[in-house]
Amino acid sequence: MNHPRAHGPLGRYALTEESKREAIANAPSIDGLMPRILGLFGPHRSPLSVTIALVVIGAALSVVPPLLIQDAFNLGLFPETGGPNLELLGTLVGVMVAIWIVIGGLSVWQHYLTAQIGNKVMGSLRVRMFDHLQSMHLGFFTSTKTGAIQSRLQNDVGGVATVLKDVIANMLGSTVTVVASLVAMLILSWELTVVAVVLLPLMILLQKRIGRVRARIAAATQQSLSDMSAMTQEALGVSGILLSKSFGRQSSEVERYRQENHTQIDLQVKLSMSGQAFFALIQIFMSAIPAVIYFVAGVLILGANPLTVGTIVAFTTAQARLMFPMMNLLQIGLEIQTSRALFARIFEYLDLTPAISSPANPTPINRDQLGVVEFDQVSFHYDESGEDTTYGLRDVNLTIKRGEYVALVGPSGAGKTTLTSLIPRFFDVSGGEVRFAGVNVTALDLDELMSHIGILSQETFLFNDTIAENIAYGKEGATSTEIEAAATAANIHETILSFPDGYDTVVGERGYRLSGGEKQRIAIARVLLKDPEVLILDEATSSLDTHSERLVQAALDSASTNRTTIAIAHRLSTVVNADRIVVISAGRIIETGTHQELLRAKGLYAALLAEQKLERDDVEWGANDGSTTPASRRQ
Ligand SMILES: Nc1ncnc2c1ncn2[C@@H]1O[C@H](COP(=O)(O)OP(=O)(O)O)[C@@H](O)[C@H]1O
Ligand SMILES: [Mg+2]
Repeated sequence: MNHPRAHGPLGRYALTEESKREAIANAPSIDGLMPRILGLFGPHRSPLSVTIALVVIGAALSVVPPLLIQDAFNLGLFPETGGPNLELLGTLVGVMVAIWIVIGGLSVWQHYLTAQIGNKVMGSLRVRMFDHLQSMHLGFFTSTKTGAIQSRLQNDVGGVATVLKDVIANMLGSTVTVVASLVAMLILSWELTVVAVVLLPLMILLQKRIGRVRARIAAATQQSLSDMSAMTQEALGVSGILLSKSFGRQSSEVERYRQENHTQIDLQVKLSMSGQAFFALIQIFMSAIPAVIYFVAGVLILGANPLTVGTIVAFTTAQARLMFPMMNLLQIGLEIQTSRALFARIFEYLDLTPAISSPANPTPINRDQLGVVEFDQVSFHYDESGEDTTYGLRDVNLTIKRGEYVALVGPSGAGKTTLTSLIPRFFDVSGGEVRFAGVNVTALDLDELMSHIGILSQETFLFNDTIAENIAYGKEGATSTEIEAAATAANIHETILSFPDGYDTVVGERGYRLSGGEKQRIAIARVLLKDPEVLILDEATSSLDTHSERLVQAALDSASTNRTTIAIAHRLSTVVNADRIVVISAGRIIETGTHQELLRAKGLYAALLAEQKLERDDVEWGANDGSTTPASRRQ
């Protein structure tokens, strides 16, 4: 129960001392942190009380055997009447063993309870955080590193359980053991207690000092390590190598690296030595204190103190039990601070309010108007702080009729994707409004709004599950007939049946077992199953080769019939038949019309088209030439 580094089942989340200090230093400040932390344990009040009781009883019981040792020696082994009293000795030993067995049992029970409470609190925090993060607006994810989010969800929440276990079991257990041992020692001999305790502050002082030195060396080691890795990245990157080669500076780079390496070696040696010194000191104290006590006992007995052998042995036994709990208590400050830091980081995430959420009283959707999308004087910029005043979109006015096929074209970075992402409220407008079925999107329920919109982009995302499950994601409770109908409409049914496992084929992580065109058609089937009124196609075919593109395009054509479709097209050949082509440049709509109208207008559209024709001729010429261009190798 009182081992300084007990690694329980939660040990895999163990934090190093450095990472604990780092977490503490970077902890956000949260109001009312302690009450909130305690609140998490509310549902576990009764097992928690049992745990506390078990720890206290176990620790208190553990002081009894040393007291019995006194009698074992004085009355059992060396009674004044002569030879050993085996009968009494047997009883005493029996009681001692029984007590240790009981303590062992209590300890197992207590560990079981703490592991259970810790993991339950951790589990529910994890789900709360996951749920909360799901409701965050898209902008949160584009502006936060995925790694940072995963780390909070896994490491911080995971760390909580470990620290919790350490804090509850160790702090409580250690305190009780220390107090109980001291009481036992006082009962045995207050004089010897004074001697033993006088030496303790010295040890605590030493430990604190060594702790500080270690922290300093560890920080320097960390710094030197990160300097070294920065150096490696810089010097061994392509551009760094080019630079040092072209300036003939290889040898000075090596020298710089050699020096830092030297520092690193020194620090590492110091770090491990300071740890060693610490353990050596503890060893010395552990062994020295009893020795000193024997000496003092001798002096006391000479001074007519009625100390017996039993008392001295019992005393040193009790005193030895003091060491580890004392050391634990010295560490507990760090543990408590760490757990507060971890909880603060978790609460910080839980307290984030999504910038985009459903209104309290959403306007119901007008079914007659479904499929109509309007942009009214829309402006938008990504930077919410307002520091960056460059606009992603400006003065956009566009009314898309029900069932219309509108193509958005324009140079890369013009704002086409941005424009479509305002419809499902992935972002909110900075000015003007976007109306869906005649209602401002901010007045609609988010889930309801999303249920009428289907999106297909260049990046298809498939879950590592069966094809059937991936398609079924489009509609809750889809039947296999519906799934197959959607797959047929998406031009992929036959292909799926040609796989050995058919619809039960597992697609692999992100669908790596499928070709780009197959993945895209599965994604189309998924959208078809959802059957949305408005379909957004964001360069859905631009990453595909010509053959897959044709198959996917056919699937898309069937998907867009009888549906309002907004298609962002990279290849202009695919937009010729659009009802309307909207040309966007630098966040503004600069031309609108049919293919023929725009050609005649000789504006940006005509220019882009001419450019693409040139490129295409280039490629075809390369292929005819028989040279090994990627296009020619594929065929
Ligand atoms: N999440 C984002 N945060 C900040 N800027 C963005 C973000 N997404 C796109 N942008 C910027 O907005 C502009 C328009 O991007 P986008 O709509 O993706 O262009 P398109 O789809 O027309 O190629 C670009 O300058 C792009 O760098
Ligand atoms: Mg785009």
